[in-house]
Amino acid sequence: MSHEVLTRQIGRSRIEASAVGLGTWAIGGWMWGGTDERQSIDAIRASIDEGVSLIDTAPAYGQGLSEEIVGKAIKGRRDKVVLATKCGLVWHTTRGNHFFDYDGCPVHRYLGGDSIAFEVEQSLKRLGTDHIDHYITHWQDPTTPVAETMEALQRLKTQGKIRSIGASNVTLTDVEAYLAAGQLDAVQQEYSMVCRDLETKLAPYCIENEVSILSYSSLALGLLSGKVGPERVFEGDDQRRNNPRFSRANREKVARLMQEIRSIAAAHEATKAQIVIAWTLQQPGITFALCGARNPEQARENAKAGRIHLSREHISRISEAAKRNLTDLDA
Ligand SMILES: NC(=O)c1ccc[n+]([C@@H]2O[C@H](COP(=O)([O-])OP(=O)(O)OC[C@H]3O[C@@H](n4cnc5c(N)ncnc54)[C@H](OP(=O)(O)O)[C@@H]3O)[C@@H](O)[C@H]2O)c1
Repeated sequence: MSHEVLTRQIGRSRIEASAVGLGTWAIGGWMWGGTDERQSIDAIRASIDEGVSLIDTAPAYGQGLSEEIVGKAIKGRRDKVVLATKCGLVWHTTRGNHFFDYDGCPVHRYLGGDSIAFEVEQSLKRLGTDHIDHYITHWQDPTTPVAETMEALQRLKTQGKIRSIGASNVTLTDVEAYLAAGQLDAVQQEYSMVCRDLETKLAPYCIENEVSILSYSSLALGLLSGKVGPERVFEGDDQRRNNPRFSRANREKVARLMQEIRSIAAAHEATKAQIVIAWTLQQPGITFALCGARNPEQARENAKAGRIHLSREHISRISEAAKRNLTDLDA
């Protein structure tokens, strides 16, 4: 393992951030069986101490809770953090497109200009900061023209409230619309060894247009951490409880993959999760890998993956092992 932490630029923004980013969805508790604030703050600080600058959150993660916890954790360390948060999943209005209910309260996908202007202020307050480094439309809103959304985002940029613009859960057509309307620096999409759809069209398009890709659920919600054994049970509202991705058959397939990458991990004095993350970061177009962590141990382990460089031979051995073991996975 080298001592250099891998950093990359977010699109054309000139903002440099650690290639391994800390994701804080689970830290918000919702859909993850709850959260522990002390452990979460320690996890965020452990990431920063290990050289992770990119921290990703969203208002929707526990309806403000994740942002509040991030705000507490980065107090006094704001200058070490490239802060990413999102807009467009709203519960202050029922405009836009109904998405889901949270505790009986409807949440809509809405990216109207006034709503974005309102949302950014709420996020700045919860995060305890005066600017957001990377501001992302969380889900796309079919009721608002992208040009209106981009105009609102560009205004925030001019005001110094945000420094770069991203879009998440997009199609290729969405990306084209964003680029036609202004400077889109990154997309945030699900990507991991078990979810590789973007490789065919989106990634080549992003490379060509200098749009970064932040992979999310890079460890497939923890399935690829190398630590979800057959006995692991998920409690409460943890989304993994009834998710076919965590079936016994899938866990066995992943265990076989882990067995096959064991020697590569040993050669790098690394864990299997670190090899999975390093592999992700070396896939074409993948600029940043967001990985969730709930405690300092997970945070440190994931952060250190940013110091591993895999040879071409190792990459292709891992890819072949993934192909052998993970095709036909219920994911
Ligand atoms: N834009 C979007 O729509 C969107 C959607 C999803 C995610 N995201 C972003 O991407 C981030 C990462 O994705 P994710 O959190 O969904 O999934 P992930 O990173 O694939 O998995 C995170 C979970 O895996 C387990 N884990 C992580 N590192 C581990 C380690 N070293 N050892 C053992 N277990 C480990 C932890 O859960 P346990 O401890 O409970 O096992 C953790 O909460 C999110 O936090 C969020 O910021 C964005």
